[in-house]
Amino acid sequence: MQIFIDCDPGHDDVLAILLALAHSELITIKGITTVAGNSSVENVTDNILKVLDYIGVSVPVAQGCARPLRREPEPQPTAHGNSGMDGPILPAAKSRVDARHAVEFLQDAIMRQTEPVTLVTLAPLTNIATLFETYPEVKKRISRICMMGGSLNGGNILPRSEFNIYHDPEAAKIVFHSGVPITMSGLEVCAEAKTMLADFEPLKHGGRVSRLAYELMDFYCGYAHERNWDYTNVFDAVPVAQLLHPELFSGTEYRVDIETEGDLCRGMTVAIQGEFTPPQSPVTVLEHADGPRFSTLMLDALRILDQRQPD
Ligand code: RIB
Ligand code: CA
Repeated sequence: MQIFIDCDPGHDDVLAILLALAHSELITIKGITTVAGNSSVENVTDNILKVLDYIGVSVPVAQGCARPLRREPEPQPTAHGNSGMDGPILPAAKSRVDARHAVEFLQDAIMRQTEPVTLVTLAPLTNIATLFETYPEVKKRISRICMMGGSLNGGNILPRSEFNIYHDPEAAKIVFHSGVPITMSGLEVCAEAKTMLADFEPLKHGGRVSRLAYELMDFYCGYAHERNWDYTNVFDAVPVAQLLHPELFSGTEYRVDIETEGDLCRGMTVAIQGEFTPPQSPVTVLEHADGPRFSTLMLDALRILDQRQPD
């Protein structure tokens, strides 16, 4: 399966990418594109270049949109730090970002593929909406979008709004109206895909990749520690885990539209069934996960990469 990952690394974005890299027997990452979200697009691009260099992996990286279609960026330093990936101190990246904008990179790379590709989106949808609006021909070359975003009921930015949709709701509306099928990993399924904090402790004595994951989660789990939770949610790893092991997840078919206005509901994903005029994209909204097996999959991936990328 050939995939492109659009992301804003971001601690959980990095773990998602590590999970995909560990399973190269099933997934080939043809490119990674970055977008403003958790931090500036410059920061999140630098973060992923540093991580790929540090673990000794080469994947094309293209930098994308620096701001939402019509709004100001709203970085999230509380969750991810000012750099977007506070915690680990990594050497400066030697790899260079692709000279093209992410949208041009994606259009060229997707149209070159001989098979339809899967888009894995782990961030606000600004790049993807711009891609679809600028180069609509690519839509028929995408078999599915596997997305971390949205919710059926919850919210982590507003009472009913999840960050990736909230940050650029106009972009999300374009993507959910695109006609491209979507598997949506929203807050409900991410809440069930728990990873226990105690499971991260031993990683600090592991190999290169495990130690990186420990340092990432040591910072990222600050939110959980402050609330005396014994678990954390690695949101962005869920769409990748679902690609690898769909049997660990279950969901329901909906059409989903996006609220773009309102102080209370901007970025709300409204799941539609029945007689309403639905947006074009069929959406499988994942609702349940086998949490323990998800956690094992995530931790095993780190050990696989430790062996593949020894110190
Ligand atoms: O709401 C969780 C999402 O917001 C994740 O993609 C995380 O990286 C942040 O971008
Ligand atoms: Ca993200």
